[in-house]
Amino acid sequence: MAASAQGETGADGRVLAPLGRRRSAVVANSPSGGYTLLTALDPDGPLPKAGQFYMLAAEHGWGGGGGRPFLPRAFSVADATAGETGVRLTFVLEDVGPGTHELAGLAEGDGLLLTGPLGRPFSPPRDVNPGAAGAILVGGGIGLAPLALLRRDLAARGFPERSLLGFRDEAHSGGLELFRCSELRLASEDGHAGHRGYVTDLLAVMLEGDDAAATAVVYACGPPAMLEAVRALCEECGVAAELALESPMACGYGACFGCAMPLRGGGYMRLCVDGPVVDAGAIETALVEGAGHR
Ligand SMILES: Cc1cc2nc3c(=O)[nH]c(=O)nc-3n(C[C@H](O)[C@H](O)[C@H](O)COP(=O)(O)OP(=O)(O)OC[C@H]3O[C@@H](n4cnc5c(N)ncnc54)[C@H](O)[C@@H]3O)c2cc1C
Ligand code: FES
Repeated sequence: MAASAQGETGADGRVLAPLGRRRSAVVANSPSGGYTLLTALDPDGPLPKAGQFYMLAAEHGWGGGGGRPFLPRAFSVADATAGETGVRLTFVLEDVGPGTHELAGLAEGDGLLLTGPLGRPFSPPRDVNPGAAGAILVGGGIGLAPLALLRRDLAARGFPERSLLGFRDEAHSGGLELFRCSELRLASEDGHAGHRGYVTDLLAVMLEGDDAAATAVVYACGPPAMLEAVRALCEECGVAAELALESPMACGYGACFGCAMPLRGGGYMRLCVDGPVVDAGAIETALVEGAGHR
């Protein structure tokens, strides 16, 4: 294992990023449905926690086409394993613009510049709900990325988990190989896989019953409308939940205030340092302006 793989940990359990941007090398790039799985070897970085993210940029060609993309882009880590030569990091990308397009086109050996791991990770289930007997993971589209690492961690600790994943249609789906061995249920709006409809339909059924509030904990990531539906449903059922939110991020480490979002009861948080994982009870709404893929 690389000497630095354990990394430094902050008071709230987050793994701290080494100072500055560093170079990693792409070791694999493979299509997965409509998404791309990009894996890089980070020789000097620590092992991240599920829910944390990295600011990524290609070493060459970034900003080449008319200056865009100029800034690095934020990506949740979907898998991470420490080995002799460093930490293997896997990201799931959906090609929606110049940054994701550049990254999805990287080949083995290409340089990937990264800063991270950044942000607040998911909390252990019993920190979210002391009576938690099982976790329900709810992902929408590319929002499955941080849940893949969370699922793996929970399974490794022997904590019961069920995953519910929803997709718009076949072209906007992928990454299912990261959920191998999981108790997995699917939903799709076009009916190509699993339940025809929303993933929140599956969650609503799962939360029916008197003991849901006492024994369940929900972790969710996905487009704002889906997260808002999860937030409202969990509030209605009294179920504890953490949501991994998205907002436009220019720096990723608290300097630009571009990711500010309102807190329930007043005030603001910077999603890159106070999130991206937030307690569902801390916000009035998950409808973050400027977030989500169109
Ligand atoms: C913490 C965090 C984790 C993330 N994790 C992932 C991940 O794991 N995988 C992933 O694929 N993405 C992830 N994202 C989202 C990703 O960072 C953004 O989508 C990023 O902006 C993509 O960069 P881009 O240059 O490809 O597209 P951009 O040009 O930034 O466009 C992003 C989206 O905005 C739309 N858009 C752009 N300009 C306009 C406009 N003028 N009007 C209307 N719509 C517009 C585009 O169509 C697209 O849907 C994450 C974001 C955050 C904050
Ligand atoms: S992205 Fe700059 S402060 Fe959050």
